[in-house]
Amino acid sequence: MPVDYDNETFYSSEELSQILRVTPEDVIAFVKDKNFNTVKLQNVIHIPKNTLEDFFDKYFSFQGITGDRNYYRIPDWLKNSTSPWAITLTKMYQKTFNYPSPLSPEQGEFLKSLVCNIKPKNVLEIGCFTGISTIWMAAGLEQIGNPATIHSVDLFDDIMPWLPHRYGYLSNPLEFAQESVATAQLSHRIKFHKMNSQEMGKKYHEIINEPIDFLFIDGDHTKRGCLTDLILFYPHVSIGGYILLHDIYPEDCDWDGPRFVIDKFLQNNSHFDLVEVNTSPNNFGIALIRKLSIDRKLDFAARLLKTPSWQRIKNNPIGKIMKKLILN
Ligand SMILES: C[S@@+](CC[C@H](N)C(=O)[O-])C[C@H]1O[C@@H](n2cnc3c(N)ncnc32)[C@H](O)[C@@H]1O
Repeated sequence: MPVDYDNETFYSSEELSQILRVTPEDVIAFVKDKNFNTVKLQNVIHIPKNTLEDFFDKYFSFQGITGDRNYYRIPDWLKNSTSPWAITLTKMYQKTFNYPSPLSPEQGEFLKSLVCNIKPKNVLEIGCFTGISTIWMAAGLEQIGNPATIHSVDLFDDIMPWLPHRYGYLSNPLEFAQESVATAQLSHRIKFHKMNSQEMGKKYHEIINEPIDFLFIDGDHTKRGCLTDLILFYPHVSIGGYILLHDIYPEDCDWDGPRFVIDKFLQNNSHFDLVEVNTSPNNFGIALIRKLSIDRKLDFAARLLKTPSWQRIKNNPIGKIMKKLILN
């Protein structure tokens, strides 16, 4: 976790060493060798957040790692398009921090096409990262002249390298997303919410309070996180509305939350239609789900999670029985 000191934010050499998978001594030797400013806080060397971009650039280039192999291939039709949203997406895909977490251009095109066909009145996105999937959806709405707004919730924490997948860093993803959406000329279609999705789910009535026709869940990919998102937002999805889950093939994407939610709650459930779609170039996979009728078990789970006393009782014997009932 970054620490604030004297009106500046700092990252510790220990945290950076974990990100880079080296020892803290290696990090310290590197920052000294390259003359980065440092401060000692509680006996640990820290480096200022405003030098991190330079720090990671220099570090990866010192290691001989160029970002070249870490971008999505941009299809010619997207590269050659003169639409502001396509030009913006092309630029976004050229940033090292935008691989591999966002939807690929192939998956984005699929998402845009879905939005054009479904014509949702309201879209809620959980997890927008830097806004790539959000722009794909907004471009779809724009194309069909649909007045819907996309509400997009994310923690918008600093984006750190994630070795060996991502070699980029971004200090303020919300600002980047807002600027990108403005360049794409789609600001009027998108409202970003910087908050935890679980907090939003519990206060949905206060924050948005509209039925959701299209829910894109791509936030916390752990079993507990993904299940909590489904449970909290599912009651707000209209009958006939759609839910999209990304990263459903753990063997390819390394996350098991979406798969768990499908297998445990959505597969072979008469309240839902479900189709799994292979994706390219990485087969992280997408599940397209249609809510056909109310699933009382999920509704009950949502009411339980929203009960203020749930936090208190969830680990006592009654809470444990309730959790078992929901999970079985
Ligand atoms: C895989 S990325 C989303 C990629 C994006 N949908 C795209 O295709 O461009 C996952 C995002 O979920 C966000 N996230 C994780 N847990 C969250 C939570 N509890 N609440 C809100 N956002 C969360 C992360 O900050 C991250 O930006």
